[in-house]
Amino acid sequence: MTSNPHINDRKCLLLVGGWSAIVEKALRVADDLVLFHGTPSEIDPSLQAACRAVETVDTRDEVACIARARLLHPTHCFTAVAAVRDIDCLATAGICDALGIAGNSRHAVALTRNKIAMRKTLAGGALDTVGWMAAHDRTSARAAVERLSTPSGEPVIVKPAAGRGSLDVRLVSRETAGAILQSYPDKALADGLIVERFIGGAEYSVETVSLNGCHHLLGVTEKLNPPRPPYFVEEGHLFPASLEDARLADIRDRIFLLLDALSITEGVCHTEIKLDGDQMHLIETHARPGGDRIWRLMELALGIDPIEIGFAALCGRPAALPSSMPANRFAAIAYLCGEGGPVSEASLDGSIRDIPGLVESRLLFQTGMVAPPTRDSYSRHAFVILTGPGETALRGNLESALSRIRIVCDPPARSALA
Ligand SMILES: Nc1ncnc2c1ncn2[C@@H]1O[C@H](COP(=O)(O)OP(=O)(O)OP(=O)(O)O)[C@@H](O)[C@H]1O
Ligand SMILES: [Mg+2]
Repeated sequence: MTSNPHINDRKCLLLVGGWSAIVEKALRVADDLVLFHGTPSEIDPSLQAACRAVETVDTRDEVACIARARLLHPTHCFTAVAAVRDIDCLATAGICDALGIAGNSRHAVALTRNKIAMRKTLAGGALDTVGWMAAHDRTSARAAVERLSTPSGEPVIVKPAAGRGSLDVRLVSRETAGAILQSYPDKALADGLIVERFIGGAEYSVETVSLNGCHHLLGVTEKLNPPRPPYFVEEGHLFPASLEDARLADIRDRIFLLLDALSITEGVCHTEIKLDGDQMHLIETHARPGGDRIWRLMELALGIDPIEIGFAALCGRPAALPSSMPANRFAAIAYLCGEGGPVSEASLDGSIRDIPGLVESRLLFQTGMVAPPTRDSYSRHAFVILTGPGETALRGNLESALSRIRIVCDPPARSALA
């Protein structure tokens, strides 16, 4: 008896973690979708129903994820495994290795998840352009600050080696080292800090997709108001970044070199860089799509969705790749940040709807809630997304849109007295 070739050709994607919009994208690409999720109730019930299976499993627990995937593989015959959140990436790579299905190896993903491991791998090569040292206690961190801030006395960057969302990224000078290093919990030190020379210039992020070790550049995004001290929070993004063709080609070549050095062969990657004069410096890379809705900006400007392209590539399906850049439209997201406190007013002025190209405006905290002070990506207060044909007008419209959002927080002193 011959087996049905049509059935054998079905692509079953195992998605580890995510949220409703991501599940929806995966359902569009794969014939069958199995979802691993710590709290499946966060996913729209109709999307859960469309999945072939939804498994409740802690996606940060790599061993549990691998065991569950092994158990289910004989039934579902997974084609590929994918994740879009940092916290799901290692379990995803572990499953890839254990089942021998499409995805990036655990070795490759582990290099992207640890900034010390990444810099070690790149040492001595063309991408080794930033002085850095690893530290696992306050004494060695202090010594690294002393060493790297010599001879100019310029402050350096200190950040957790396995950090995310700009959490605990600090600018440190010889004078401030004692106090700032004291503020890192012992666990952060034990997990490793990386101390780096401060890189000047404008900041960008680069989206790529890889298939069988062959890389494609999907686009370059400008980081608005480049993240700055003291907390280096990302305040917004504009796509596509206006860069000359030669510059783009140089960025592309260097990022492909990076992906090869880290053994990335499949799926979407998001790489952060700074351009200081003619020099491109690497900040970090991730084996997942860019956060902060960069995929949405690319969809608005270029008509492509890198997340869907990534899923399609993993499933071995043809994907519509952009043949040329720049796009003929621009799109941007800007965040409202603040010092936080009990929210006495959270509102969008009705006139925000009149701003040309407004796509979305959202309050992340409502009246009556307590908004945290913005110190990282998780504590920003609101955002707007806009699109338009002209970059200058779009930047102006972003400012106008932000000015029509009001999140009024009682200052801590007043609320403490109340
Ligand atoms: N060596 C450096 N020189 C200058 N700025 C830096 C350096 N390292 C980090 N930064 C700044 O700090 C920001 C956060 O650092 P990084 O991206 O490495 O940490 P992260 O917590 O993994 O960030 P995220 O997950 O938000 O992308 C960068 O976007 C950049 O603006
Ligand atoms: Mg970053």
